[in-house]
Amino acid sequence: MKLLFFIYNHFLAVILLVLFTFLTDRCCDTVTKVQSYEGFSESFSCSYESQYQNSLKYICRGNRPSTCLQQALITSDTKQNGRFRLDDDKVSGTFTVNISSLTQNDSGSYLCGVQRNSDVDVFSAVELEVEGERSYSSVRETTATIAQRWR
Ligand SMILES: *[C@@H]1O[C@H](CO)[C@@H](O)[C@H](O)[C@H]1NC(C)=O
Ligand SMILES: *[C@@H]1O[C@H](CO)[C@@H](O)[C@H](O)[C@H]1NC(C)=O
Repeated sequence: MKLLFFIYNHFLAVILLVLFTFLTDRCCDTVTKVQSYEGFSESFSCSYESQYQNSLKYICRGNRPSTCLQQALITSDTKQNGRFRLDDDKVSGTFTVNISSLTQNDSGSYLCGVQRNSDVDVFSAVELEVEGERSYSSVRETTATIAQRWR
């Protein structure tokens, strides 16, 4: 009842709406974690449904869907932009983003976006962690992973 009274008040209703929009402009429940090292390159793949084969694909930093496209680091229209490269494999329904010459500043959240013309775009989230100097143990870890893959 108290809440209804507040919403009745115009000013507070606007504030609540802005706050609600702010709090819900987030993505996603599941996040793909990717780890790499300074100076290296890393790539991650974002999958999409086959109906979006010819749609625009893009990535941005952060986790706000509403501003993602306008702040895109790269889109499937440009393919290469500085250290960023985007390859769209329409057959498998995935686009791969490659970031080269990584620095620790590249660490953080990224969103993969697929543009839909008559609806809200589709997003998936990636968390990139770039560590400093590559240590002996991490080299060993990678070698172990590769060995496992070829078994
Ligand atoms: C990213 O692209 C560069 C340049 O094409 C390539 O040498 C590198 O192997 C790629 N990195 C990954 C992780 O695929
Ligand atoms: C990382 O970001 C900080 C703050 O924006 C900046 O001062 C620093 O030079 C950046 N480092 C690299 C390696 O880009």
